[in-house]
Amino acid sequence: MLQGKKITVIGGGKMGSIIAQALIKQKLCEQKNLIVTDIDAARRADIASLAGVNISDDNKKAASDATIIILAVKPQNMREILAEISPAIDHNKIIISIAAGITTALMESLLPKGARVLRVMPNTPALIGEGAAAVAKGSFATDADLKLTCAVFDAVGISVAVDEKLMDAVTGLSGSGPAYFFLFMEALIEAGEKVGLSYDLAAKLSMQTMLGAARLCLQGDKKPAELREMVTSPGGTTAAGLKVLNEGKIREVIIAAVEAATARSQELAGEK
Ligand SMILES: NC(=O)c1ccc[n+]([C@@H]2O[C@H](COP(=O)([O-])OP(=O)(O)OC[C@H]3O[C@@H](n4cnc5c(N)ncnc54)[C@H](OP(=O)(O)O)[C@@H]3O)[C@@H](O)[C@H]2O)c1
Repeated sequence: MLQGKKITVIGGGKMGSIIAQALIKQKLCEQKNLIVTDIDAARRADIASLAGVNISDDNKKAASDATIIILAVKPQNMREILAEISPAIDHNKIIISIAAGITTALMESLLPKGARVLRVMPNTPALIGEGAAAVAKGSFATDADLKLTCAVFDAVGISVAVDEKLMDAVTGLSGSGPAYFFLFMEALIEAGEKVGLSYDLAAKLSMQTMLGAARLCLQGDKKPAELREMVTSPGGTTAAGLKVLNEGKIREVIIAAVEAATARSQELAGEK
């Protein structure tokens, strides 16, 4: 799907460089067809040595040379980048932004009329190829553009297509989600130490347990609630632990956390 297409990634920071590397490593894009631009010379040198991709400091030319343009700069830099590349944009190009809170309507308003824009919310595990990204299309992007964008983010994990109005909810769930699980792991490790394990042992067991539980959910056809019931014998150890979690209203607390993050995402988008 991406073969033969010229791709430019604008912003070679954490996300931009990892996406570029994944596209090359997974042979979704030939090295000669990929350019990464960055404002910082040292970062450009790093990217060139890491991924072997072409680098540039000329956003407008790189956008002009590509059919797929991935914008991986911070949200506060998006307006200036869109203004800079706007003269290079025509109907043959797809513009994909990963900047949090930047709507497709805002992008469309800063680009020539009819620009095919898409918006993606990735998350940090993309850095190791285990990301979860949601992709939404703007008014002029096609279903084929959506599929192509999903293929880009499948290279660094999984992707789902969503209506843009769900982007704040996605941000509150999977965008902020890694931090929720890190907190859960921190608490598990602390608990492990309290019941007599070393930090290292508690950390190793906690992390593998979380990974294993996620894989069981992903690989089987059972819902998390069914899997939980299967490992909870009446009067057993798991039941004793779950009773305390339920008394502490863990479910309600997690729901409130995702609602708060979703609301904050809505607020931040309103400020942009
Ligand atoms: N990291 C995540 O987990 C994550 C998750 C979801 C969404 N995102 C979104 O992904 C985007 C990138 O995040 P990141 O963590 O990869 O940020 P980052 O590491 O700061 O990368 C952005 C890069 O763009 C460069 N840049 C700034 N202005 C530029 C310009 N005019 N032309 C070319 N390059 C320019 C920056 O250089 P300087 O540092 O010198 O300014 C930096 O190297 C953000 O919009 C963020 O909202 C990130």
